[in-house]
Amino acid sequence: MNFSLILPNLDRPPASPQFVNCYSESSQGQAASAARELAEGLSAGAATVPPKYFYNALGSKLFEAITGLNEYYPTRTEASIFDAAHPQIARALAKAGIAQPSLIDLGAGNCAKATRLIPHLQPRQYVPVDISVDFLRSAAQQVQTAFPALDIVGVGMDFSAGLALPPQVQAHDRVFFYPGSSLGNFSPDQALTFLRHMADPAQGKARGLLLGIDLVKDPATLKAAYDDALGVTAAFNKNLLLHVNALLGADFDVAQWQHVALFNEAESRIEMHLQAQCDLTVRWLEGERAFRAGESIHTENSYKYTVASISALLRRAGFTQISYWTDPKDWFAVFWASV
Ligand code: AVI
Repeated sequence: MNFSLILPNLDRPPASPQFVNCYSESSQGQAASAARELAEGLSAGAATVPPKYFYNALGSKLFEAITGLNEYYPTRTEASIFDAAHPQIARALAKAGIAQPSLIDLGAGNCAKATRLIPHLQPRQYVPVDISVDFLRSAAQQVQTAFPALDIVGVGMDFSAGLALPPQVQAHDRVFFYPGSSLGNFSPDQALTFLRHMADPAQGKARGLLLGIDLVKDPATLKAAYDDALGVTAAFNKNLLLHVNALLGADFDVAQWQHVALFNEAESRIEMHLQAQCDLTVRWLEGERAFRAGESIHTENSYKYTVASISALLRRAGFTQISYWTDPKDWFAVFWASV
């Protein structure tokens, strides 16, 4: 019997992805600017905390759990569109003359969405980008194990602040992959600026964008997706307060806050809030804020688009060739847009 066929090759270490960390929560500059941003938001007349602060290690795990909930239809609906439309998506890239794509996965999280697409799109390089650096490191390693020959460059970065990528990311044939309707967490004005940055030769240098976006539907379905029966989304929302405690030295007591999700039809967005359950004062190192019972902190908007409204936004941002695919209920859409 030839054991060399079944024993691992111990001379060769398993392939590892490159990793470039442009974001360190603990670096002095980053910590100071996060503290400034949080203090400013909490001190505003209508208190806010930006949604990027959901994603500490526990927040990333809770979001992963949300994507598996029955009520949270976007993840599985988007996956079903990718499963059905991947041959057309691959043809659209080829038609745009993109032969050796670098697939840049913005907000990659556990990299699950890209992992399904990689066998079909056959990128030359895969670049998962996320602010939750430790979570991303282990996810990138798992992708490398599944695709040992793929050139993987993990990037720890707060891309909401700009899209200038490190030089390890190939400059040609860049395709941004922005699934999961994360664009909906920006206001339409911010989304336009962000889409323009992608195509900017000094920033993202995109040849194209593969975008997943949630569509307007009946308010009850939308609301349930952000207020599930198990309370996972409530825990995700409240965990933000623990992250703020760590970053700002604040003393939020999560037991004093309630998760609220509502659909604002006029703005076409789900809003998440944390509502104070009694009169209370939150203190941090250099400040404090009193909340009356019922007063809230606005933590997230999740805008819902129509095919027409998102197509118009993509065109305004400079994308010219636009195709899209939806599921049979028209709940979610995947767009391919090239520059
Ligand atoms: C990441 N983002 C697209 C999610 C959404 O649906 O807006 C975040 C989320 N918030 C609550 N549930 C999921």
